[in-house]
Amino acid sequence: MKPTALLPRHTAAAVLLATLLCGPAAWADSSVDTPGVPPGPTLPPQAQGKPPSWAGKAAHKGVVAVSHPAAAEAGARALERGGNAIDAAAAIQFVLNVVEPQFSGIGGGGFMMVHLAKSGRTFAIDGRETAPAAATPTMFLFTGVSPNQLFVPTSSSGLSVGVPGTLAAVDLALKSWGTTTLAQALQPAIALAENGFRINRFLAANIASDGGRTSFQPETQAIFQPGGVKLVEGDLLVQKDLAKTFRLIAQQGAEVFYRGEIAPAIVSAQQRSRSPVLSEGVGRMTLADLRGYEAKIREPITGEYRGWQVASMSPPSSGGLTLVQMLKMLERFPIGQFGFGSPLTLHAMIESMRLAFADRAVWMGDEDFSYVPKKGLLDPTYVAARGGLIDLGARMATPAAGDPRPFDVAMNHAPIQLAAIPSEEEKGVHTTHFSVVDKWGNVVSYTTTIENTGGTGLTVPGYGFLLNNELTDFNFAPTFNAATGNPGANDVAPFKRPRSSMSPTIVLRDGKPFAAYGSPGGSTIINSVLNTTLNLIDHGMTIQQAIDAPRLSVTSAAGSVSCEGTGSFMQPRISVATQDALRALGHTSLGALGSDGCTANIGSVQGVIIDLHTGKQYGGADQRREGTVIALPR
Ligand code: GLY
Repeated sequence: MKPTALLPRHTAAAVLLATLLCGPAAWADSSVDTPGVPPGPTLPPQAQGKPPSWAGKAAHKGVVAVSHPAAAEAGARALERGGNAIDAAAAIQFVLNVVEPQFSGIGGGGFMMVHLAKSGRTFAIDGRETAPAAATPTMFLFTGVSPNQLFVPTSSSGLSVGVPGTLAAVDLALKSWGTTTLAQALQPAIALAENGFRINRFLAANIASDGGRTSFQPETQAIFQPGGVKLVEGDLLVQKDLAKTFRLIAQQGAEVFYRGEIAPAIVSAQQRSRSPVLSEGVGRMTLADLRGYEAKIREPITGEYRGWQVASMSPPSSGGLTLVQMLKMLERFPIGQFGFGSPLTLHAMIESMRLAFADRAVWMGDEDFSYVPKKGLLDPTYVAARGGLIDLGARMATPAAGDPRPFDVAMNHAPIQLAAIPSEEEKGVHTTHFSVVDKWGNVVSYTTTIENTGGTGLTVPGYGFLLNNELTDFNFAPTFNAATGNPGANDVAPFKRPRSSMSPTIVLRDGKPFAAYGSPGGSTIINSVLNTTLNLIDHGMTIQQAIDAPRLSVTSAAGSVSCEGTGSFMQPRISVATQDALRALGHTSLGALGSDGCTANIGSVQGVIIDLHTGKQYGGADQRREGTVIALPR
């Protein structure tokens, strides 16, 4: 039996409604506990179901799961040469910069979770971009332009470029725990940039649409549209400038980027605005900002879910806090018994997302600048009260954020009732995630981004890499926290890091890593990670099944629901009858009764699993991109 919790009122009625409408979902009864194993997924994970053969191989010398085969290959070779998971991660990141230049690279930032087998410790490297010294809370406000008109012009302007952190983060990880040098880690990327690689259908689609903007800037067009003709799937993409940049870094170290010859080129590239509206919208980054950039090692956010320890990214990401809040709210419900894709499971997920995203909007940001009540937000009494607002028989009215302060530090005031804040968060498909385990059991879970597809669309001339538009993750207009009277946790400030949703996650049992995964997708990232976690822990799926299963996401308290179902691999489907049950409960954005409203495409999860009993390693990769698993030995 799965662990159960007391069911809230209306449960019996809701169970009846669900059963009448849908019957149990395909895998509702498939999760069986193993005698002697604490409640959780049946082990070994791949023994269940029939994983696709390319992802089902058991390994013991390491596994990489990456969204692109060339980057997976670079990671696998690093492991085969005797490198560890951190060495492999460095090689993968640099190759991703070449083969998925639209999603991540040295012009951006990211978060790397690292579990070290020897010490049993888990760390988080924060390579998030920072606002320049000259940033101000009102820098995105322009005469006659309302904040909700700002995203499109601002996102392709130099004003939105944050001081890049990826190179500093990889350098810090290698220096802290790697066995190879930055120069060695760069070699596969140099070769691919110099000699070229065949463009896959995802990059081709992004080139065709100019990353979803009116057009790419001229120096970016020169790369993806040489001679005015857009490259298509199967074309060879050669990036000589990027190869030169990587060679410079290999010779001179990360210094050349932050303090050497590349720095002035970055500063000058972001001193441009793309918008006729935002003529004053040029970047404010200076050489001093680049010189002062530091990647940081942080403590991850951790929480228990049904006996499993979930470690995920701490502020400035909202990922870990929001994920653990949702899991703690859902722990009261027997999600495994409700079954995958059942109305009860999906309704409980939706309501937990709405509550957690309400808290996220008010309380989460860069804690080096505004106090984030992490302890209060995860306090068992506080989360139980928030979770107690979930009624399985009805959709709640738009929830306001709670006030976690009385549960955080000794406060001499009662909690304040906050008003609900309307906020709809971004849902892009940009960013990327990969996971690695090595033969020693070291694990890396790394989410990395330049924010939008193609970032700002500004390439640093002569150096061949795209600059991020990460500062658009800040609030465009200054806000204030009604409980504290302080400026909003995610308002712009000099040197501050914009709030992220990136949630690289490692799940452990008794301190030993069991799974590592994460996803791209803007604020849907947190929900992709939640879906995957429930699929593994509650629904007993293999890592590949957990990734293939259709996802559901809500990224605001108002609660418009997105769900998947268009890919043939997305099994089991969320049936129209189930969607009707959700519509009957009042959930919005699913379209008309009787129609299939599950048409979204959410995230791209790459994960690895380590069987806690045998030590065997498995990978799962996402067909929503060119996900690739390489399990060693081959
Ligand atoms: N730029 C995506 C994120 O940080 O959440």
